[in-house]
Amino acid sequence: ASMHLPWIDAIRRLKKLRGAVIMAHSYQTPEIFQGVADITGDSLGLAQAAADCDADLIVMCGVHFMAESAKILAPNKTVLIPDLEAGCSLASSITAEDVLALRARHPGVPVVSYANTSAAVKAESDAICTSANAVQVVESMGSPKVIFLPDQYLGRHVASQTKVELVLWDGRCEVHEKFTAQQARHAREQFNARLAAHPECAPEVLAEADFVGSTTAMGKWLEREQPSRVALITECSMADNLRKQFPATEFIKPCHLCPHMQRITLPGIYEALRDLKHVVDVPPGVAARARRALQRMLDVGR
Ligand code: 13P
Ligand code: SF4
Repeated sequence: ASMHLPWIDAIRRLKKLRGAVIMAHSYQTPEIFQGVADITGDSLGLAQAAADCDADLIVMCGVHFMAESAKILAPNKTVLIPDLEAGCSLASSITAEDVLALRARHPGVPVVSYANTSAAVKAESDAICTSANAVQVVESMGSPKVIFLPDQYLGRHVASQTKVELVLWDGRCEVHEKFTAQQARHAREQFNARLAAHPECAPEVLAEADFVGSTTAMGKWLEREQPSRVALITECSMADNLRKQFPATEFIKPCHLCPHMQRITLPGIYEALRDLKHVVDVPPGVAARARRALQRMLDVGR
């Protein structure tokens, strides 16, 4: 950790000088999450924070769709991402044209898109959701049928929680799809661990879990249950970040890291602040339409 300290100091100084706010997703490494972030959260929390933020400069330590959502919700602010290549397999699984084709196939059926989508896909959607509020957003559409995209596994999980019929897409998270039911059983049987899983995991993995929920919901579950051993079936920086908060809990790791999240580094954040790069912009027309869909999500809340 000591090798991080010079970077952490330099970033803190430069951040003050620039009047910047650093936001970090829960999948960022501890030296970022605990070392330099002003605001941390799941993707819903970061979107809410961007909408409420009063700094003129936001550095998003997360993936590209998170920076886009921040820019859409805070159009007069400058939003930087330290690495433009920090993408997401869900966001790249579907285009705006795909959404239009789905609409043509299902006339009049509203579209709810996961936050893990491009601004262009959001602009063609009626509402956005995250895993923290997917059921609530789907039900708020007031329709017996909803097009839900692009995460097939999250979609199947949501479908199991509601009477609304869902039309699904075949996108997947390249990280969460790697976990297997066998790994989950192994954590429980070999380590006597409780299991909390993110709903981007496959249905047979979720079936093994004691708790299924979003990033923030998992933290709250840990607070309530205080298990002596837990396996978090999700991106494993989460466990690194929560370990500090729950010293009495032992975290068993079936571990997969998101390669996109890992593109964000301390030197990258420093350079972003120094050179004011990389500016994330969304064309105003697209942003205006995407903002309506995102605002519906914020109105539903958590
Ligand atoms: P949440 O932050 O909404 O739980 O999302 C998980 C994820 O994979 C984000 O990329
Ligand atoms: Fe996308 Fe999965 Fe990485 Fe999240 S963990 S950013 S859903 S690829």
